[in-house]
Amino acid sequence: MSERDRGGAGRRPPGRRSQRDRTSPAPLAPSARLVARDVVLDVDRDDAYANLLLPQRIREAGLSAADAGFATELAYGTLRWQGQHDALIADAAGRPVDEIDPETLATLRIGSHQLSRMRVPTHAAVHETVALLRHHRGRAGFANAVLRRLSEVPAEERLAAIAEGFSDDERLALETGHPAWVLRALRRSLEREGASDELPVLLAADNEPPLVQLVALPGLADPDELGLEPTASPLGRAAPSGDPARIPQVAEGSWRVQDAGSQLAALALTRARPVADGERWLDVCAGPGGKAALMAAEAAMAGARLEANEVAPHRARLVRHAVRAIGERWPEHAPRVVTGDGRRYGEGETAQAFDRILLDAPCTGLGALRRRPEARWRKQPTDVPELARLQAELLEASARALKPGGVLAYVTCSPHLAETRAIVDRAAALGLRPLDTRAVVAALAPGIALGETGDAVQLWPHRNGTDAMFIQLLTTA
Ligand SMILES: C[S@@+](CC[C@H](N)C(=O)[O-])C[C@H]1O[C@@H](n2cnc3c(N)ncnc32)[C@H](O)[C@@H]1O
Repeated sequence: MSERDRGGAGRRPPGRRSQRDRTSPAPLAPSARLVARDVVLDVDRDDAYANLLLPQRIREAGLSAADAGFATELAYGTLRWQGQHDALIADAAGRPVDEIDPETLATLRIGSHQLSRMRVPTHAAVHETVALLRHHRGRAGFANAVLRRLSEVPAEERLAAIAEGFSDDERLALETGHPAWVLRALRRSLEREGASDELPVLLAADNEPPLVQLVALPGLADPDELGLEPTASPLGRAAPSGDPARIPQVAEGSWRVQDAGSQLAALALTRARPVADGERWLDVCAGPGGKAALMAAEAAMAGARLEANEVAPHRARLVRHAVRAIGERWPEHAPRVVTGDGRRYGEGETAQAFDRILLDAPCTGLGALRRRPEARWRKQPTDVPELARLQAELLEASARALKPGGVLAYVTCSPHLAETRAIVDRAAALGLRPLDTRAVVAALAPGIALGETGDAVQLWPHRNGTDAMFIQLLTTA
């Protein structure tokens, strides 16, 4: 019997005692529901990242493969559909969710997800979920009442009643599990290329867990050597099911997990034109190092050298790890990894110093919502102007650091127009002009579907099976 139908039981993992455990009369045994509930709670309370936390918690709890699958579907699904669950819970509880304590709310959220979006028998969904609160009788009684009320009315019926009086956008946002401001930003970007009718398909694609994609690093691996299905990138392949870290070539660093859109963004820069021997390349915002690894391999193969910069020291360490295999294979072309604010470039010895520059700017990440289940609820519209200011300053520094005639790629994993078009519209004032990025990407990926975006490329999950990367190549005017 799997966790889907009953509560899990097993050994307490060493070294993990939470506040709750210390105060509870009898510690809860590790189970898939407990793992999922605690991940949902930590994402809410501590701003944790579910994709980093969940695998660790599954390992610590010693879950079976079936229970690990259940915990993953429950945690990621709950986070992705949090907007709907909160609306349902508030309705059934008769109070706003911010008046419910975090532990009870996280428990209710995973209960609501089992009832409305997973085929879990009602009794198990309610009973086993409420049992997670058994150390606190008041909370358990409240959760029991709310989940029982939720189980009495189909979620669609309750949602339809909740949405009465909503605007069309608010209703679509509730139905598709997106914040309304995100939905509007996605629509505006699609509208810009005359494709606003694709919005429902895009919103649906955002809710599909993506296939894991791999890149074969040039000079270290052959894309055909593993017999895997191709993706939108010439170096990309779809990972087989299971943990990609268990693939020996991934473990040794010759293949890496990377979305095909990110591969195309890096390759658009490295293959925009032939490489001259001794070129200097710069990755301004390199952490955690996915594009840096691909660019470093491309650079080493062509006789160029990459400098990978990252402001956050812990992310710079990740870059060092990501490019390790390239340094071992080509010590004379080993990439240089540095830590610092990218806005310092373009002064002194870094003025007009680099032949190619990747500015993969910090952004809202609205193009990678399918990959990060909690991301859509964490970002706020007020984040956009602050990020846009940083993006513009990083573009100014990159423009100063570019050699005359060099190539600069401005890239974001967000299609928000304030982070894409509005930033590259500043290029002319910085002495830059656009290059035909569509032609470069179309040459890399013949047959790829590209929208009407002028010189720029905007990839989309529903169209290209990639994250919604924005890519604009620029050169000096
Ligand atoms: C979109 S991510 C880059 C992803 C990376 N290119 C890759 O493919 O793995 C943006 C990165 O910029 C870093 N960053 C933010 N502000 C920065 C700044 N002022 N200077 C340099 N890096 C910055 C962030 O820490 C983050 O690691």
